[in-house]
Amino acid sequence: MEDKLRALADQARQAIDQADDNQQLEQVRIEYLGRQGRLRQIMQSISDLPAQQRPAIGQLANRVSRELQRLLAQRVTELEAAATEADKEAQKIDVTLPGRGPRVGKQHPLMATLEEMIDIFLGLGFVVAEGPEVENYYYSFEALNYPEFHPAMDEQMTFYITDDVLLRSQTSPVQIRVMEQQPPPVRIVAPGRCFRRDTVDATHCHTFYQLEGLLVDEGVTFADLKGTLEVFAREMFGPDCHMRFRPDFFPFTEPSAEIALTCIICGGKGCRVCDYTGWLEVGGSGMVDPNVLAKVGYDTEKYTGWAFGVGVERFAMLRYGIDDIRLFYTGDMRFLEQF
Ligand code: DAH
Repeated sequence: MEDKLRALADQARQAIDQADDNQQLEQVRIEYLGRQGRLRQIMQSISDLPAQQRPAIGQLANRVSRELQRLLAQRVTELEAAATEADKEAQKIDVTLPGRGPRVGKQHPLMATLEEMIDIFLGLGFVVAEGPEVENYYYSFEALNYPEFHPAMDEQMTFYITDDVLLRSQTSPVQIRVMEQQPPPVRIVAPGRCFRRDTVDATHCHTFYQLEGLLVDEGVTFADLKGTLEVFAREMFGPDCHMRFRPDFFPFTEPSAEIALTCIICGGKGCRVCDYTGWLEVGGSGMVDPNVLAKVGYDTEKYTGWAFGVGVERFAMLRYGIDDIRLFYTGDMRFLEQF
């Protein structure tokens, strides 16, 4: 009986030693120490022994049982430690690898241009004003002195949400919103997104940016408008850039003028981009129509003003020598990464 116990203990020790994971260990435990395990079977047969042998064998069996339990527990701890070590090894950071830096974003060329334009006006004492992209009919047309069904609205064809609510086709409504909120003097630039039902091509897009300007004060004249815009053009494109004013029509200005810039791509000599005229149209301007000033409650005997609106894309195209407006909106990284 004693030999049997010692042999069993040897086998069990070996089995515990060789178990590589918890599952194998559990099997070993069941085989040797389980309720129907081999040790229990031996213990049950102790009662068959002569009475004087029983205590010694019983004690030995208990000792074996305790030892095996201790070895099992010890092996569990060993396996756990090994697993943690392997885990650590797998997660080890190799600090000698060159880092993978985050991609650094940068400003879109259109926004960079717009910011430069705004900066020039900030330097001239203007402040920035903004209005909603979703406008109503009153601010878009009525307050800007558009008679109902006037053909000047044709070029402002836009997207309507209801008969009264639309995506603004120009930034001019911001003029009204600002003047409603404050008395003269007013000196603002209003940048923002505009929308029109234009067919997309190299120079048109349904969504585009404008920069609006408005100045209202006592004794303001057309000469101030010309002088201010000339300074702006030269700040933007250098001393050789000039502005050309030609008569135009806008309901909210009288007189009105189309603004053109020296084509800086050919230096005014004439090229494909400027249609061989040497000039590029960039927007409209004029003296604010007294009807508009009266609508917001300004004293038209005391105050006069001028306004302008220019396309930001046009300036960006000139600034970077880009000949297709669509490049600004396709999100093509090969294009954008050049700036
Ligand atoms: N809003 C006009 C347009 O988009 C441009 C314009 C013309 C703005 C004359 C003005 C202005 O402020 O005085 O066609």
